[in-house]
Amino acid sequence: MCGIIGYTGEKQAQPILLNGLAKLEYRGYDSCGIAIAAGDIAVYKDAVRVEALKKASPKLTGTSGIGHTRWATHGAPSQINAHPHLDCNGEIAVVHNGVINNYQELRNRLIEEGHTFVSETDTEVIAHLIEKYYGGNLEEAIESAVAEMEGSYTIIVLIKGESGLAVVRKESPLIIGLGDKENFVSSDVPAILDYTDRVIYLEDGDIGFITRNSIKVKSAGKEVKREEHKILWNVEEAQKSGYEHFLLKEIHEQPKVIRNTLGEYTREAEPVTDTFGMESADMESMLILACGTSYYASLVGKYIIEELLRIPVRVEPASEFNYFGHTLAGGVSLAILQSGETADTLRAMKKLKESGHKVIAITNVVGSTASRIASHTVYTRAGPEISVAATKTFMAQLMALYWLALSFSRLGTRKLSSLRNELRQMPGKVQQVLDGEESIVEHARYLSRFENVFFIGRGMNYPIALEGALKLKEISYIHAEGYAAGELKHGPFALLGTDTPVIAIVPGDNTYEAMLTNIKEIKARGSPVIALAEEGNETIEELVDRVITVPRVNPLFTPVVNIVALQLLAYHTARERGCSIDYPRNLAKSVTVE
Ligand code: F6R
Repeated sequence: MCGIIGYTGEKQAQPILLNGLAKLEYRGYDSCGIAIAAGDIAVYKDAVRVEALKKASPKLTGTSGIGHTRWATHGAPSQINAHPHLDCNGEIAVVHNGVINNYQELRNRLIEEGHTFVSETDTEVIAHLIEKYYGGNLEEAIESAVAEMEGSYTIIVLIKGESGLAVVRKESPLIIGLGDKENFVSSDVPAILDYTDRVIYLEDGDIGFITRNSIKVKSAGKEVKREEHKILWNVEEAQKSGYEHFLLKEIHEQPKVIRNTLGEYTREAEPVTDTFGMESADMESMLILACGTSYYASLVGKYIIEELLRIPVRVEPASEFNYFGHTLAGGVSLAILQSGETADTLRAMKKLKESGHKVIAITNVVGSTASRIASHTVYTRAGPEISVAATKTFMAQLMALYWLALSFSRLGTRKLSSLRNELRQMPGKVQQVLDGEESIVEHARYLSRFENVFFIGRGMNYPIALEGALKLKEISYIHAEGYAAGELKHGPFALLGTDTPVIAIVPGDNTYEAMLTNIKEIKARGSPVIALAEEGNETIEELVDRVITVPRVNPLFTPVVNIVALQLLAYHTARERGCSIDYPRNLAKSVTVE
């Protein structure tokens, strides 16, 4: 994880770095720091959030600099362990995203050679290694240092007396933003979007040397040309636009996200058949790999694809598959990841490719590592998602999965066309849920008093129960568990009682009667029940304590409206409890370590 940024140009670097870091905080936020070159290198860093660093840092003058916001791996969050890290003489500053696997061995050797270390981090060895090799030739020093490092190390280096920055990309993202007499480097687009929409995506193993007027990129010792791209996201999308939190804004953006994502896969109202890089012949079975919220989207996908295509779908968390997953050689598989950078999913993709699989990535980030590994990439159009908890990217993933299933389904043309039309109605249905936000605020106030909550659902709303529970626990810190409704009586019933509410997802589909039975069993054990039910369902009100109403939709699309209500419930519960909603403790948005 961690966010890194660099600037070299004619303007003062400090405000550019600090503004950029504030936009990269979703990648880690336990400490942060900057280094600016103006003759000497000045460093200011601390175990605080970027806003506090902005207020506390003295004015550092200089037009080249680097910055970092951290998600600790080696060494607790502290002022000493915060980046940038320096060499012995304070003339080489480094910021790093990744993990140096052989850092202990390098550190021991460098100490024997006379280097003094001050932090517990793996990153500090990079500064000392470059120091060891730097005799005035920047390229040679960086290349020699890199040759000794093992692991993942996307870095930006600032050296006293050098004009500009050196960068290396290894297994974490890095982009170069192109300006007029100025250039930028960053982990991600939002940090530089205020200044430029022209970028170069570096590839794994690239080493770059960047001055205000020039970019030189080398790969395997040879100079290479990397294509320039125009960013389609706009500044507005990466700002709060009047909302109290990014999370709330992103929840509210979902009608647009559905329209944009479906629009991406459709031309003149017809599906684009080659969108998914697959053919009907590939559709005998399917394997989907993902992590976290993307894993839950994949589980919804399993139900959708099995229902519409009548093929078996296997879904596994990528972290498990990497150690225990066996596959037949060949075949087609899907990897779903909003960031395009999740280490576990990338590793699973590589494993599948090695066994001859064609791997299709579904991701939200153009130019991400996943898109480089995949045989084919399907982009979701959620726009930048800043809040650590995923909401609109989950919705966009659902849309990609619905469209995939509808594109390959063998149902009759009329039925398919009617389902596609219903899917296109979803922005309006989601808007209806959003319009009911006020009533959800009241339910959230009630929920915020509890410390343990169960979410239950059946069929394709079982993964929605899992995702609803994940949203609640990660942003409100209430312990929440998602369960298949029929499973609750096989043990968890022991935890039911007046202080353990159950949130039951009750669509009017073939799970309805079974859900009512489960609710009665739960009520008999004293737990308060909040039902998520369709408008017009009056029976449910007599059975439960509270009802959150969602619009009636085709049973296939109930996850779409239900998840939005649960996102709002989690958001307002967390707000009621005064939590750090966009940046929950201990988390980071893209998890680039195993
Ligand atoms: C939860 C959340 C995480 C991510 C997970 C995978 O709100 O955001 O669980 O879903 O870290 O991230 P991606 O989709 O980038 O692989």
